Amino acid sequence: MGRILVTGGAGFVGSHLCDYLIERGHDVLCVDNLFSGSKDNIRHLLGYPYFEFIRHDITHPFFAEVDRIYHLACPASPVHYQHNPIKTIKTNVVGTINMLGLAKRVKARILLASTSEVYGNPTIHPQTENYWGNVNPIGIRSCYDEGKRVAETLMMDYHRQNHVEIKIVRIFNTYGPRMAVNDGRVISNFIVQALRGEDLTVYGDGAQTRSFCYISDLVEGVVRMADTDCFIGPVNLGNPHESTILEVAKAILSITKGSSKIVFRSLPPDDPERRCPDITLAKTILNWEPGVPLDDGLEKTIKYFIEKLKGKIF
Ligand SMILES: NC(=O)c1ccc[n+]([C@@H]2O[C@H](COP(=O)([O-])OP(=O)(O)OC[C@H]3O[C@@H](n4cnc5c(N)ncnc54)[C@H](O)[C@@H]3O)[C@@H](O)[C@H]2O)c1
Repeated sequence: MGRILVTGGAGFVGSHLCDYLIERGHDVLCVDNLFSGSKDNIRHLLGYPYFEFIRHDITHPFFAEVDRIYHLACPASPVHYQHNPIKTIKTNVVGTINMLGLAKRVKARILLASTSEVYGNPTIHPQTENYWGNVNPIGIRSCYDEGKRVAETLMMDYHRQNHVEIKIVRIFNTYGPRMAVNDGRVISNFIVQALRGEDLTVYGDGAQTRSFCYISDLVEGVVRMADTDCFIGPVNLGNPHESTILEVAKAILSITKGSSKIVFRSLPPDDPERRCPDITLAKTILNWEPGVPLDDGLEKTIKYFIEKLKGKIF
């Protein structure tokens, strides 16, 4: 089993990926600056002999002998990535250059966690990997969207110029336990509001759709992509089942049996109306598709948040 570096390993997706890799006997090195992640997400792994955590900011060079790099470090929720947009773009650009430099030096395969945000407010639906996107380069989301687009460009150029073995996955909305309580993402927002008996805030009229993938499905897809030879991507990973934001709010209220009301607020700038992956490529090449239905995933996530809000989970 090889030595694997996970950048952003103390975050939501990264911590589940670390769990998955440790369960399968890998030697995992988790590097994170704990900006939007937390030691609490990896606390249960800290005693394992094959798990190491290093607090490090990847905008500074990092060196370690590793065989594979899962490069996830980057705040993913608008609240976090807009907190310090210059830092966000530095993480995407300088951080990715540092990780690609490391991959080149130690001849490691590197996977970039890119995002459906590279499609911006898409003019085609559902989005296939060959769609180039419709992104505002000067908006408040650009540090993230354009940052990831540059990160993808860097991956491709290191591949073409330096023959670095790369993989690009474009992740669509993913949810599950360990999302941060205050990260402003729609599912965690609604759940926390419902559990606290507060009104559920829907931005816009709630008719905009999103497709939500449960975390265990996503991690499986990410690892399958990393394990595949002869295919660099990009590949969409997400759940093609679309739900309106209003449907999600109602599903959460029904599971939590909450009495909260749904209230409507104006949409933030550049919020895409529809976003849904075409996952034909992932099905064909990775033999992957999500299996966890929204209601089941929501139940597991709500269970986590109930314990989290009671203070029973660190
Ligand atoms: N969760 C989703 O729905 C989703 C969707 C699309 C793409 N992604 C991508 O997946 C990755 C993980 O997302 P997430 O939801 O787990 O977000 P997250 O914010 O929970 O995790 C990101 C992690 O990266 C760390 N980090 C940020 N900047 C860093 C830096 N400069 N140096 C070191 N560590 C740094 C944070 O502390 C955090 O632990 C991100 O790259 C994100 O863009 C996630």
